Formats: sequence, structure tokens, C-alpha cells
Amino acid sequence: MSSPNISTKLPGPEAKAWLEKDAEYVSPSYGRPYPLVAKSGKGLAVTDVDGNVFLDFSAGIAVCSTGHCHPVVVEAIKRQAETLIHMSGTDFYYREQAFLGEEIARITPGNQPKKCFFGNSGADAVEAGFKLARYHSSRPRMVAFSGAFHGRTFGALSLTGSNEKYRRGFAPLVPDVTHVPFPYCYRCPFNLEHPSCGLACIDYIQDEVFSKYVPPSEVAAIVAEPIQGEGGYIPAPPQYFKRLKSLCDDHGILFMCDEVQSGFGRSGKMFAIEHWDVVPDIVCMAKGIASGMPLGVCCSSSELMNWHQGAHASTFGANPVSCAAAFKTIELLEGGLIENAADTGAYLKSELESVAREHDIIGDVRGMGLMIGVEFIGDSDRSPAPDISSAVIRDCFEKGIALLPCGKSVVRFCPPLVVTKEECDYAVTAFREAVEHRSVDF
Ligand SMILES: Cc1ncc(COP(=O)(O)O)c(C=O)c1O
Repeated sequence: MSSPNISTKLPGPEAKAWLEKDAEYVSPSYGRPYPLVAKSGKGLAVTDVDGNVFLDFSAGIAVCSTGHCHPVVVEAIKRQAETLIHMSGTDFYYREQAFLGEEIARITPGNQPKKCFFGNSGADAVEAGFKLARYHSSRPRMVAFSGAFHGRTFGALSLTGSNEKYRRGFAPLVPDVTHVPFPYCYRCPFNLEHPSCGLACIDYIQDEVFSKYVPPSEVAAIVAEPIQGEGGYIPAPPQYFKRLKSLCDDHGILFMCDEVQSGFGRSGKMFAIEHWDVVPDIVCMAKGIASGMPLGVCCSSSELMNWHQGAHASTFGANPVSCAAAFKTIELLEGGLIENAADTGAYLKSELESVAREHDIIGDVRGMGLMIGVEFIGDSDRSPAPDISSAVIRDCFEKGIALLPCGKSVVRFCPPLVVTKEECDYAVTAFREAVEHRSVDF
């Protein structure tokens, strides 16, 4: 169990020097919300270059599923690095790639024979899924969701619909991607309430989109995050994906599930889509898969992954060291961390709900497992309050709790799955004080 310990003004003197170098040499396209300059990590604790200790409730943006530098993962990485670092699965064979394929086939939903394509990132996995869906179906179109985030390469970016800043300056994108409303029930795009809405947002896809401007017979896949991540930590309502999958099946459309952020135990199940009891045709994964080593995977039935030799590949995909980290990550997740995500996640959510009850500026607390969003509002009309959410995140940083934003005014809590209730208490205390400091009644 770790605790925060801030001993300098932030940023400290060492951090300041690195921020200057970063400003000089690193692309200005990154969007850091505060100046945390990390030096080392262990479990939840991240120590900065001035010796300040933060509790990382962002898990390095939902990546360090087993905590920072889990000793079992570190040992596996070391052993693999001494044995074989790289050979390229694009041109040679090695055991780790085939074995990881077998593991991913075992843990992803559905019992059908499956195959895996290996890349290095979430965007890589999504790009592969996009290409595979088009290739397999010989259909040109895709349907994605407003608020979705799938990555920044051209294909993945074309599916992304969470913020115009990702797209500004990069047109034209891949054509024939249509975005439809996501079931963001707190801000229902149809001004209805679940469950009395009868999932009107699904009817809209059929009755408006497919009937009027997107011939469903031309749609290769509908791609969705089961819990929208970047869009604001929004779980779809119960039954949603059953209805969506059945709409897909009616039209021979593939259901491609982006589990890049929600997968690998974060939601309290290995894959979030399991909460809806649906088997996707294509699953894209990355982030938490290898505890911080770069790895992206696109998995589908063997029948679906029928593309020709040379159709798609990536030099570093399934790097043996990343594979070794992934085996141990899966072992640790199945050995108790998924259960911890469900239990400790429920505890954290209920504590955050109690903060919300005390303050009007919190409009909604939602999520599953350790993927929890707290949405801030500026008035009784629920207008988003990005100034407040940013200030709360900044205040928490000053108190030694690392949090990140998402959506328009949402604070996301996505700690490593090793987090304890005591560590959650530190985060909630800091968060409560920060909210109190910004609170207004309306
Ligand atoms: C749901 C989802 N898909 C895809 C991506 C892209 O992943 P990467 O940044 O590894 O390319 C992200 C990253 O945040 C994500 O949250």
C-alpha cells in the first residue's frame, strides 16, 4: 500500500528543468494536463524527479493494469530480454507469438476457433480491425459512434468522434464512415430516459440512418466501445449491445468491439462486453494487455480472418518481450486482479457517489469496476463545467493524486487493478477536498 507524499512546490526544481527540455525537443501535440515528470513507479506509486510521490489513479492512461513495475512482470521481461528481444513475426516464427495468440483466443468471448493479428498500439489494433472488416465483407462503409475514440492513425481517426481537435487539419479522412448517437443516458441525445426509452437510439440507426442514407448492405462493421473511454467514461445501458448485435446480424454487418481501454479486467470482467453477454465478431485490444509494454491485438474467428498472405503486418507486432509481459499480466489478472477491480471498483464508486451527494457540481458518477467517471456540471441545466473538472484535477495533482480528464467535464478514475481500498481512501479524501474548494450550490 502506498501513500502520496509531496515535499516540493509543484513542479519542483528538477521537474522544471525537464519541462524546459521537453518544450524544446518534444512534439507540442501532446496534451498534458499538469506537470508530472515521472522517474520511477511501484504499484500505485509514481515518484517524480524531485522525490514527490503520487498515487497514480490514471494507470499511465489505463495501461499499467498490474501496477507500475509489478515484480512478476518485471522478472518475465528480464528473462525474455535475455533470451530473444526481437525476430519479427512478420517474417519468422517464434513461440511467444503463437502462444499469446492461443491465450488471447482462450480469454476473448466466444468458443469458436480464433486468430490474432498483432500490432503495437490501440490504433494499430483498430486499424487492423477496420481493414479486416472491409476485406472480409467486401463492403466499403463503417458505422461508429459520436463520442467514440479509436486512435489517431487515419483509419482509426476516421472512426473517432470524440473531439474535433483530433481531426482538425487532417481532412480528408477515410470516406464512408457514419457516426450515430451513443447511448449517453445522462445526456440522452433523444431527451428520453432509460429504460422507458425502449432503446430508441437503436431504432434510430434502423429507421433513420439505414433507411435514409446508409444502405446497410454496404456496411462492413459497426464499431463500438462497450464503455466509452475518452468520450466520458460512459457505459452503454443494459440490453444495448444485445439489440445492436441483433441489428448487425439482421443486415450481415460485423460487430467490432474496441476493448482497448475497457478490456483486460478493468471493468470487473476480462472484457467489458461480457457484461452485456454478447460475442463480438472482432475484438480490438491494447493498453492493459501487457502492463505497459507496447502491444495491440485484433482478434476474430479464424473464418473471418481470411485475408491473403501479405495483406497486413507490422514489424514490431507481438514483440517477444511484450508477449512475455502479456502472459504474466493475464496470469495476474486471472489470479485475483479482475476480482479486485470489481470489488475495489464498487467501493471506490460508492465513495465517489457519497461525495456527489454532498455537492451540486457533480452531476453523475458512473462506470464499471475500475473505470469510473465523475461528471461535473455548471448549473441546474447540467451544462458541462470543464473549468471545474480541470481545477479539481489540478488540485488533486497538488495533493499527490494523479487523475486525468475525459469527455467535456469528466474526471476519470482508472487506477491499476492492484489498487487497495486504503489507496482509494487517499484519492477520495483529496478529491473531496478539491470538490469542496470549487463547490457552489445551485
Ligand atoms: C478505446 C480506445 N481505442 C483506441 C485507442 C488508441 O490507442 P493508442 O493510443 O494505443 O493508439 C484508445 C486510446 O486511448 C482508446 O481508449
